[in-house]
Amino acid sequence: MTEAVLLVGGQGTRLRPLTVSTPKPMLPVAGVPFTVHQITRARDAGITRIVLATSYRSDVFREFLDDADHGVEIVIATEDEPLGTGGAIRHALPYLNSSGDDPVVVFNGDVLTGVDIAGLIRHHVNSASDVTLYLTPVPDPRAYGLVPTDATGRVTAFLEKPQTPEEIVTNQINAGCYVFRSSVISAIPTGRPVSVERETFPQLLADDARVSGVVDHGYWLDLGTPLAFAQGSRDLVLGLAPSPAVPQIGESLVLEGAVVARDAVLSGGTTIGRRAHVESGAVIEGSVVFDDAHVHSGARIRDSIIGAGAVIGEGSVVAGAVIGDGAHIGSGNELLDGVRIWPRAHLADGTVRFSSDS
Ligand code: GDD
Ligand code: MG
Repeated sequence: MTEAVLLVGGQGTRLRPLTVSTPKPMLPVAGVPFTVHQITRARDAGITRIVLATSYRSDVFREFLDDADHGVEIVIATEDEPLGTGGAIRHALPYLNSSGDDPVVVFNGDVLTGVDIAGLIRHHVNSASDVTLYLTPVPDPRAYGLVPTDATGRVTAFLEKPQTPEEIVTNQINAGCYVFRSSVISAIPTGRPVSVERETFPQLLADDARVSGVVDHGYWLDLGTPLAFAQGSRDLVLGLAPSPAVPQIGESLVLEGAVVARDAVLSGGTTIGRRAHVESGAVIEGSVVFDDAHVHSGARIRDSIIGAGAVIGEGSVVAGAVIGDGAHIGSGNELLDGVRIWPRAHLADGTVRFSSDS
């Protein structure tokens, strides 16, 4: 019996407006809420019980659990006020059966990875660690927790989101999955917010606890931004990121009830949501089209997210953009890199253009 805590209480601010009504882990990715990819991977690694540590919009998680069976026991813990990552893990402890030296796995709720979870647990147990951290190298580590290790794999420091160049001592980052000795979780203070990254890990290191790092070079992505979210989705559909919950791997994934015109072109791991419509001549590449959206003829969409029930007008171009749920984009618009359209906004025909001849 191994148990896990899935941290899903964040507000997902950087994914607005997608997260205005839906918490980030519940956004659909390759046909299922993102959380389901993590739950099924944990299940396949032998985890038998998962606590969803919720805070923001916990109601959405409850609804979802009421009608889902993923072959693993799932319970929900809800913080009245967000307690931070460490506070959330501590708050989840009474919902677990683990105690003493039992290993408890903790996952950030927005990380897509192929890491060998069972191998991480084995390493933790065999090295008699207090905490074992999954680490991955990235080209630019500044937005993450930096975790240097020594030659024996022992963690020597934990620098969350470094502010100065001197702090950038490694490109090895905290990849958002840990194994804790249960008693280490018991020692986290209760009743106030605690950041595991800024408080618990530095304190454990100062106390000379055994904190181990396991570096994995396989697939890793934090789905924190719209572009990363679209990338994670297309990597799942294309089979580049491993998940037992992807219904079907291929150039595109068309979900039940969607209607796609025969001469529309879907590629690059695009997902078309349930009951969505894609009309004649539309070209959609590497994008996520949520349920009930409508893409009119000749529209071109690339690396973008089209919210539930949104409408993309005839011949409009959407690239690297996020269109909120129920927004209505008239024909002949061009929405490019980084543009975010708020839910239910209306853009008249030909309102936005970046050049006159395209
Ligand atoms: N229950 C609960 N309560 N969950 C929370 C809370 C809270 O108060 N605050 C954050 N979380 C959850 C988020 O939903 C997310 O799944 C996870 O904790 C991490 O929070 P993020 O807000 O996504 O943090 P980050 O992406 O800036 O940084 C974290 O992840 C990086 C890897 O992706 C840190 O752990 C970094 O050290 C790490 O490198
Ligand atoms: Mg994150």
